[in-house]
Amino acid sequence: MMGNLKLQSLFLQLAFAFCVFISSLSFGDAGITSTFIRSEWPSIDIPLDHEVFAVPQGYNAPQQVHITQGDYEGKAVIISWVTHDEPEPNSVQYGTSDGSYEFTAEGVVTNYTFYKYKSGYIHHCLIADLKYDTKYYYKIGSGDSAREFWFRSPPKVDPDASYKFGIIGDLGQTFNSLSTLNHYMKSGAQTVLFLGDISYADRYQFNDVGLRWDTWGRFAEQSTAYQPWIWSAGNHEIEYMPYMGEVEPFKSYIHRYLTPYLASKSSSPLWYAIRRASAHIIVLSAYSPFVKYTPQWHWIHEEFERVDREKTPWLIVLMHVPIYNSNEAHFEEGDSMRSVFESLFVKYRVDVVFAGHVHAYERSYRISSVHNNVSGDHHIVPDKSAPVYITVGDGGNQEGLAGRFKDPQPEYSAFREPSYGHSTLEIKNRTHALYHWNRNDDGKKVATDAFVLRNQYWARNRRRRKLKKHIQMVIDEEMAS
Ligand SMILES: *[C@@H]1O[C@H](CO)[C@@H](O)[C@H](O)[C@H]1NC(C)=O
Ligand SMILES: *[C@@H]1O[C@H](CO)[C@@H](O)[C@H](O)[C@H]1NC(C)=O
Ligand SMILES: *[C@@H]1O[C@H](CO)[C@@H](O)[C@H](O)[C@H]1NC(C)=O
Ligand SMILES: [Fe+2]
Repeated sequence: MMGNLKLQSLFLQLAFAFCVFISSLSFGDAGITSTFIRSEWPSIDIPLDHEVFAVPQGYNAPQQVHITQGDYEGKAVIISWVTHDEPEPNSVQYGTSDGSYEFTAEGVVTNYTFYKYKSGYIHHCLIADLKYDTKYYYKIGSGDSAREFWFRSPPKVDPDASYKFGIIGDLGQTFNSLSTLNHYMKSGAQTVLFLGDISYADRYQFNDVGLRWDTWGRFAEQSTAYQPWIWSAGNHEIEYMPYMGEVEPFKSYIHRYLTPYLASKSSSPLWYAIRRASAHIIVLSAYSPFVKYTPQWHWIHEEFERVDREKTPWLIVLMHVPIYNSNEAHFEEGDSMRSVFESLFVKYRVDVVFAGHVHAYERSYRISSVHNNVSGDHHIVPDKSAPVYITVGDGGNQEGLAGRFKDPQPEYSAFREPSYGHSTLEIKNRTHALYHWNRNDDGKKVATDAFVLRNQYWARNRRRRKLKKHIQMVIDEEMAS
């Protein structure tokens, strides 16, 4: 026990030292390309009869239970589930003590078809006016088929609220996906920031597309029923499949996974923002119009103005496609988004941008190309105002790993490795957060990439205040002499 604590504190010290090391780096220090490749199982989906896909017993039993934040501040959740026999009951009983439920909320029901597949009844129930930082128990379904779960509401929005986020992308439903989910669930993180590409159901055809959304919902329930997953959409959610008569983009995704987009004055569930604990999280859609004058472009300008770093010091952006990526896979696919969004990320001093899409792990230094124009030379230079860009597209789906990186490693790339894994961002207070990438490694937790993230707003201001004090002291001394 004692040894463990010592190890932890040693690790923290090392992480801090590493951070100081990184921040003292000028551009040109070589990044690391880890030659380690971990691909434990073949990239095939878990068979349908596997226990992780088991349908809960009983008539009309609720399945595929998942929750997400339901408002702007974290005082509401949306609880969603699917029933297959009938649309009733459609309510959630909930309360703060186990087994006795003081409150009831009514949901809405929806269903859809995809080719000849008919979805079950998809229930969405908003529970509002939660107390902060409180464990809630909830019950859905009726009689013998009723099921009970719990979740914990986040702390009040506050600049020093500590909170631990998990970051997962491109998950799918293979044995590697299961391994990522199991590792994540041991991390102690409280909310998942999901980077898009959920079920990979679009790799199937005809009625199997809908069926593989259902299996994914049952597979992920062990986590999604107990803590919010903050969704963003990837290309595998588009499902534009004209040969089956399916041409409505994001049809399955939008029916099944709600987002609280209205609370941030967005006009689409595909882009939105939330505030949670000490973080302001902005979700962008790579597969919706984003150029100048489009709704998403207008919205992000307004949303950045709403960010209040005095209340939420941590500004985090999620988008499926990375705008800095040195993998052969999806190389330069993010350039159009870079030309639209990067100057905003620098202007508003975003702390970190998380992306998926590329099935590997990569982290950049703080860099930007905003001082050059797109039509001119692509000069990427160190930029203290810029975010760190992190790609965590390594959840473990059936497409496998993106094992080929550009050689040599570009100067902006700090660390890269083609293995499956997930990340955590543990916010300590307004100035410090501990970041960690965990490779899936035989059930062991391996701190493959870890560093301390210093807040772009508060760490800077503190430095500025120190500088001001120092200048004042120099002036005072000179006046006195
Ligand atoms: C939704 O469910 C109702 C009631 O079972 C059914 O009549 C309707 O056809 C379903 N709609 C779709 C789009 O599947
Ligand atoms: C962008 O590059 C072009 C061509 O090199 C140059 O003419 C133009 O002035 C540049 N614009 C800015 C804003 O630097
Ligand atoms: C913030 O957290 C870091 C790391 O735990 C700690 O070193 C620092 O003193 C904290 N700052 C404040 C203002 O509490
Ligand atoms: Fe993708």
